[in-house]
Amino acid sequence: MFKNMRWLLIASLVVIAMVVGACATPAPPPPPEETAPPLTGSVEIFSWWTAGGEAEGLAAMYEVFDAEYPELEIINATVAGGAGMEAKAVLATRLQAGDMPDSFQVHAGHELIDTWVVAEKMEPVTFIFEENNWLDVYPPGVIEVLSSEGEIWSVPVNIHRSNVLWYNKQVFEDNGLTAPTTLDEFFDVAKTLQGAGVTPLAVGDSGVWVDIHVFESLLLATLGPDAYRGLWDGATDWNGSGVTEALEAFADMMDYVNADHAALSWDQASQLVVDGDAAMTIMGDWSEGYFKAAGWTPDVEFGYVPSPGTAGSFIMLSDSFGLPDGAPNRDGAIAWLTVCGSKAGQDAFNPIKGSIPARTDGDRSLYDDYLQSAMDDFSSNEIVPSLAHGAAASEGWVTAFGDAMTLFVADLDVAAAQAAMAQACVDAGMCQ
Ligand code: GAL
Repeated sequence: MFKNMRWLLIASLVVIAMVVGACATPAPPPPPEETAPPLTGSVEIFSWWTAGGEAEGLAAMYEVFDAEYPELEIINATVAGGAGMEAKAVLATRLQAGDMPDSFQVHAGHELIDTWVVAEKMEPVTFIFEENNWLDVYPPGVIEVLSSEGEIWSVPVNIHRSNVLWYNKQVFEDNGLTAPTTLDEFFDVAKTLQGAGVTPLAVGDSGVWVDIHVFESLLLATLGPDAYRGLWDGATDWNGSGVTEALEAFADMMDYVNADHAALSWDQASQLVVDGDAAMTIMGDWSEGYFKAAGWTPDVEFGYVPSPGTAGSFIMLSDSFGLPDGAPNRDGAIAWLTVCGSKAGQDAFNPIKGSIPARTDGDRSLYDDYLQSAMDDFSSNEIVPSLAHGAAASEGWVTAFGDAMTLFVADLDVAAAQAAMAQACVDAGMCQ
């Protein structure tokens, strides 16, 4: 009995000792879950998207952002003016003064690399591509135009096509016409329309970029894709006959445009087509966004063909957003860029904007017939870069080219314009 009690006592002491021991060295609590504090503050996004289609597309991407980052407030900093002519000037002043927005719109290609990257105003965004596994979902050609010195410098939101002729289907039907596919057909159609009292071609070249835009389609038509590409690396002679023919075609086209072209913008020219005051316009597919914002449906009220003589080739440009070095809200800017590069962001933006996703995995069912045709063409056509929209050449070259175009539109002197364009290539360091 005593013996038993003694064992009981010992066993109790052992248990007590174990409990006390356990209490003396408590197990460390599990580490708290790492939750980053929500991103707060404002993010200033700088762009030139104010026209019909552009503004709505941007708003759709902002909605995706709002849903993902409700604590971050977007400041929509826009400077109106097609192709960013005005916006780019304002941006340059701001960046020189160190007053940078958190992120800004910039065309992929030379505009990005030769202007901002070489001036060391950008932070590379390669890490955003890596963190989101984007290197596999963007075409290598797109990554290439965003890259220099082993880094990627901006996040593309879309691919736009420059060489499209848009037309009012009712006006064409009323005049028994079909869409022109060659330059000869274009001039035949234009003559018929003019005879019927309709302005054949709507142009709104209050900004000279619109003339450059129309002209790049003509260069592609007269030179073909290989020689067109060669214009930008010195392989094609600016004094050659293909350039002469393009200039002559441009001069001929000016006989068929609205008298007030110099007073209008690209979207006002598109509106002439909507109103039936003009039959056609040659413009990038942001006009598609404009037409849809005006209530039109592709293949119902408006038709589209590659600009005359350019079927099989796709003049491409890409809008992208960058991370300025020293962005006031860097984390907020990275959040914005993450939305820009995401499938959700691109599939919200592009169907409205009139562009196709820069990613290869966009949801095709969200895109209308025109945009699906653009997707097909982008994957099967010869892809060549746009001069008017920053892809083909440095901004200095584009400016010199624009000066030549401004004079040319005024005097239609083919020889003088060709000499000035040849000189611009020399001055840009690409021609001898
Ligand atoms: C282009 C830009 C397009 C569209 C157009 C008219 O340069 O890439 O997204 O905005 O200008 O403004």
